[in-house]
Amino acid sequence: MVPAAKLQRASATAAGKVILLGEHVVVHGHPAIVAGIDRGVRVTVVPHGSAGGAPDAADARLGQAIGLATRLLGLGPCQFEVVIEGDLPVGMGLGSSAALAVALLRALAASAARAPSDDELAAHAHEIERLFHGTPSGVDSTASTYGGVLWFEAGPPVRYERLLLPAPLPIVVALSKTPHATSQTVGSLRERAARAPEVYQPVFVAVAALVTAARAALFADDRAGLGALMTMNHGLLRACGVSTPELDGLVEAALAAGALGAKLTGAGGGGAVLALPDGPPGPLLATLRAAGHDCFAATLGAAPASPAAVR
Ligand code: PMV
Repeated sequence: MVPAAKLQRASATAAGKVILLGEHVVVHGHPAIVAGIDRGVRVTVVPHGSAGGAPDAADARLGQAIGLATRLLGLGPCQFEVVIEGDLPVGMGLGSSAALAVALLRALAASAARAPSDDELAAHAHEIERLFHGTPSGVDSTASTYGGVLWFEAGPPVRYERLLLPAPLPIVVALSKTPHATSQTVGSLRERAARAPEVYQPVFVAVAALVTAARAALFADDRAGLGALMTMNHGLLRACGVSTPELDGLVEAALAAGALGAKLTGAGGGGAVLALPDGPPGPLLATLRAAGHDCFAATLGAAPASPAAVR
């Protein structure tokens, strides 16, 4: 029997993410480009006096995630509460459940004076993500663990490569008013693709070609080229049935406001749109906000993700 873990109060953070190109096709064996953003989740583990009980969690699935994190880290019986904070919109395709998993694992490991490697953390976070999303590719947990801009392939085995950009990339994220359900959207596209592979597989291959071209555009700092590829990616996501009139409207609004490109980001069916401003993000943000849209700016590839803050 694993002895009771001695915990001390500890906090850790993990980043949210945007998928630049390649969501959904990444579930079907193709690459995606994903980037950590400087919004995320902070988890604080607050130990209780005596060991032996179960962790406190109001939400059943969160309770399962906490229990699984405890087991994955090999901790014995322990009693604690978790406090979750953050500035990452939830249910918007910005990787909030993966960020929660990574921050929880980091905080719990720090609390028990463990130091798992990032590779272990990413693998554990992928396991926890399965509780929330069924069969996730691992793109969210990988981005949340390592940050930066990554080329990602689900494998198995998972493969990721850090893409070092010649200059930081400003983006604008516009939120729809509709939360999305990743497993439902992924599942229904999987069913459509299984029923008519001759129709869907060529579209997935076309998206993969956009992802490869976007990698070259990123390295060349060719923002006009990258924007065009993003907008094409949106068109193909729409063709696959994962966009909504609201997301299409946000894409059109961003393009009309001068964005170099725009697309839904994440699973779709709701969630957020990612737009590439032509220069600093201020004017695009101002125009979208004046039209009543909830949006924020982020900078991709600015600096390596800072290690989790632990107090
Ligand atoms: O959960 P979301 O909205 O961040 O979507 C993740 C990206 C998908 O490719 C749609 C699913 C996956 O597991 O890769």
